[in-house]
Amino acid sequence: MRTAGDVGPLRAGIVGCGAIAGNHVSAYRGVDGVEVVACIDIDEDRARTFAAEHAITQPVSSLDELFDLGVDVISVCTPHPTHEAVVIAAAERGVHVLCEKPITIDVASAERMVEACELAGITFGCVFQRRLWPSAKRIRAAIEDGRIGEPILARIEVLLHRDSSYYTATPWRGTWATDGGGVLMTQAIHYVDLLQWYLGDVEWVMTAADTFTHGDHIEVEDTLATTMRMSSGAIAQFTASTALTPGLGQRIAITGAAGCTVGLFEYPEGTEAVNDVWAVPGQAAYSYPSEILADRSLDRINSALAPFHAEQITDFVAAVRAGTAPAVTGDDALRSLRTMSAMYRSMSSGRPERPGDLQPLHTERTSR
Ligand SMILES: NC(=O)c1ccc[n+]([C@@H]2O[C@H](COP(=O)([O-])OP(=O)(O)OC[C@H]3O[C@@H](n4cnc5c(N)ncnc54)[C@H](O)[C@@H]3O)[C@@H](O)[C@H]2O)c1
Repeated sequence: MRTAGDVGPLRAGIVGCGAIAGNHVSAYRGVDGVEVVACIDIDEDRARTFAAEHAITQPVSSLDELFDLGVDVISVCTPHPTHEAVVIAAAERGVHVLCEKPITIDVASAERMVEACELAGITFGCVFQRRLWPSAKRIRAAIEDGRIGEPILARIEVLLHRDSSYYTATPWRGTWATDGGGVLMTQAIHYVDLLQWYLGDVEWVMTAADTFTHGDHIEVEDTLATTMRMSSGAIAQFTASTALTPGLGQRIAITGAAGCTVGLFEYPEGTEAVNDVWAVPGQAAYSYPSEILADRSLDRINSALAPFHAEQITDFVAAVRAGTAPAVTGDDALRSLRTMSAMYRSMSSGRPERPGDLQPLHTERTSR
């Protein structure tokens, strides 16, 4: 296993050669002393094509073959329910892992992953690249240094557009078994992570959800509204949807006991967010776009996020080399999954639910 202080090139492998994998390849290549040595996909043709497109010399056909090449780190870019098997296999071979979000779709599975990585002593990170935005870090600093007072209120909006082909062109999307959920599991998860990074753990959630627009091609939720009580005592209001045409972007705003509000606004989706509300005494600023823009293609959203995959992978490589914790750990990802699990349970039960239970996420469609 690669340990802190090792010199020499760090060898990276890519598992899953789909839409997001290219961001990982370019990000690794942007870090000094890192080589992308191999890639693997269950669809071997796809692995070969991806290898040719990205000048990767070794498309391989099994995880063992990948590990036998002596890779130090892998990026897991496969559909969510397949992450656990890959992460645990890597841990058993002493290979460090950066896993795409969500780390998996149920809490028990995430706990097994975190435990296996801890036991193996490997670095386990999860991609939540929005934390690397300067605007996101600025909010965290304002909270940590007490500028806004103790947070009392958070407002989150994830108001996105997806057309039917987003779900129908990729067979694993939109089912409970293979996607684990809808807008919450795949899109709003980034803002659950930001919320908990800023305000800590969640005590309970009360969520209403439905499938309003995409019901003829998905079984998971496309729209939700949640009220949350944080363990700190703060309250949060969280809405999310992929039913908007056009999408209206994503924002988070935190108000502190001093009355000040700090927030960021991601518009259009995938664009590096700006601090659109910064109502700190002496620093008041507010910006909002003056025009509504057309929805972007998924390729465009993914490529706009690439600079922040690059920042997160730079951080992850530095953590592997130094033997320190990465910016977002597997444990952080487990914490957001616990909150989302409670949100899914609340959608079904119609009652407030607490994070932390080991129950799997619901397998039945939410009903109105
Ligand atoms: N951080 C982000 O902003 C972001 C953006 C997009 C996707 N993602 C995440 O990345 C992951 C992949 O998403 P995508 O859009 O690239 O999906 P995709 O369907 O385009 O690609 C997934 C690839 O994995 C392959 N695959 C499936 N099971 C496999 C297995 N067991 N072993 C090896 N290969 C396997 C598929 O054949 C496919 O080529 C998802 O978990 C998704 O949530 C994150």
